[in-house]
Amino acid sequence: MTQTTGTAWAALQALPKPALVTLFADDPARVQKLSARFELTDEGILFDWSKTHLDAAHIAQFEALADAAGFAHARNALLAGGVVNATEQLAAEHTAQRGMGAAQSVELARGLHARMAALTDAIHKGALGEIKHLIHIGIGGSALGPKLAIRTLAGEGAMVDVHVVSNIDGCDLEAAFAACDPATTLLAVASKTFTTIETMTNAQSALAWLSAAGVSDAYGRVVALTASPEKAMEWGVDETRILPFPETVGGRYSLWSSIGFPVALALGWPDFAEMLEGAAIMDRHFCDTDGVANLPLRAAFADQYYTRLRGCQTRAVFAYDERLALLPGYLQQLEMESNGKSVTAGGDPVDGPTAPVTWGGVGTDAQHAVFQLLHQGTNLVPVDFIAAIAPGDDLDDAHHRILLSNCFAQGAALMAGRSCDDLARSYPGDRPSATILLDDLTPACFGALIAFHEHRTFANAVLMGINPFDQFGVELGKDIAAQIEQGGAIFDAGTQALLNAAGIAR
Ligand code: F6P
Repeated sequence: MTQTTGTAWAALQALPKPALVTLFADDPARVQKLSARFELTDEGILFDWSKTHLDAAHIAQFEALADAAGFAHARNALLAGGVVNATEQLAAEHTAQRGMGAAQSVELARGLHARMAALTDAIHKGALGEIKHLIHIGIGGSALGPKLAIRTLAGEGAMVDVHVVSNIDGCDLEAAFAACDPATTLLAVASKTFTTIETMTNAQSALAWLSAAGVSDAYGRVVALTASPEKAMEWGVDETRILPFPETVGGRYSLWSSIGFPVALALGWPDFAEMLEGAAIMDRHFCDTDGVANLPLRAAFADQYYTRLRGCQTRAVFAYDERLALLPGYLQQLEMESNGKSVTAGGDPVDGPTAPVTWGGVGTDAQHAVFQLLHQGTNLVPVDFIAAIAPGDDLDDAHHRILLSNCFAQGAALMAGRSCDDLARSYPGDRPSATILLDDLTPACFGALIAFHEHRTFANAVLMGINPFDQFGVELGKDIAAQIEQGGAIFDAGTQALLNAAGIAR
């Protein structure tokens, strides 16, 4: 902690913490002050933080903290393609994929997108024969974004039937095989490094499945999506079917790059381009807006308030939209792999909690499963509700009306609570939530929503003084799994007993 951020944190700690109902009672303009509409070309998104404990005093101090933490400088460095990942001496250039960044990186992204658009178009027109199915093989950031985007945006109208397979558990791949005809199936092998054991093992098995079904040139059915094109070529993919992306695009930030190929294939290029444009509009807002008016930064103020000032160890995201059912899982990687750190960007131990555990689900299902804890449990959990005003279904209006009523009712109930002589039936209230209300779940709105979360994650990292772009914490388990696979190593007695019990000790 530097002297100046320390001073800002001390000032924040010292502020009174009025109850939410008091904040509303004291300020009739609270909703207007704490909510903001974000405009895209044809639609918009309403962000509402009025049911969080942010007030003018906290916002002023959080703005001081952001200044002390060098937020504007860090944000500008990110968006200019500067080195923001110090441990790996890399830029983090996902915004260049959307048109903002170092000129040569933006130019490169345009060229790679043009290639991707051309290949997508050629496949739609039959250049690789009749293609009805795509098995997209990747894991982590090479799977979660495409899976979410397709589930959200493709609906029943997908131009190609896409199956995203990530798990090394063969059951995942077998389910895709069962749903696809090998004669009309294309494989996308998505891996930034092109070395990830789950992906390479699954890819090999998928090739074997094609060959066993009589496909004469199985490798001819593979498109590789990677930042390591030379490894894809060594593995056997022809250069013409390799869609590269730059090393400076992180795995969990890679949906916008060629990792988004299955999205473009399922939706068509115009929708993919609209998703990029929605994200680009959010990038421009993030770039051009200072202080609390900057929406991702404002979200980070609320996040920091709950993590650091109220000791919340988790945050929950509930999408009141079945199409966004995979969003909590996507955000788990984005937020926890980025900000689940214990050292500062300077390499010192952190002096407070970093990322909370992100979890969540889909409304209204979650109301009948986990909301009991949110309303009456002993943990304080800040909640984000995400919904769209336009329905995704064609059924009676009652469906969407009841869905939205329930979403808003939960936020109201969490805040207001209800006292009762019988303690078991009492609700303490004063439980915070924020609501993100999309006009419509279009590709542009979806792109803006995801970019908002990327920038929110970055803003949180800056306020905490950590590097969100490395992930060394994932390596140790991989190393030990590799040792087990190779055999000959000695493990602790507990692990050895498990290996023996499963019959996989070597
Ligand atoms: O192990 C974590 C991780 O490196 C993620 O950061 C990444 O998204 C995922 O594995 C997949 O990596 P790759 O795209 O290189 O296969």
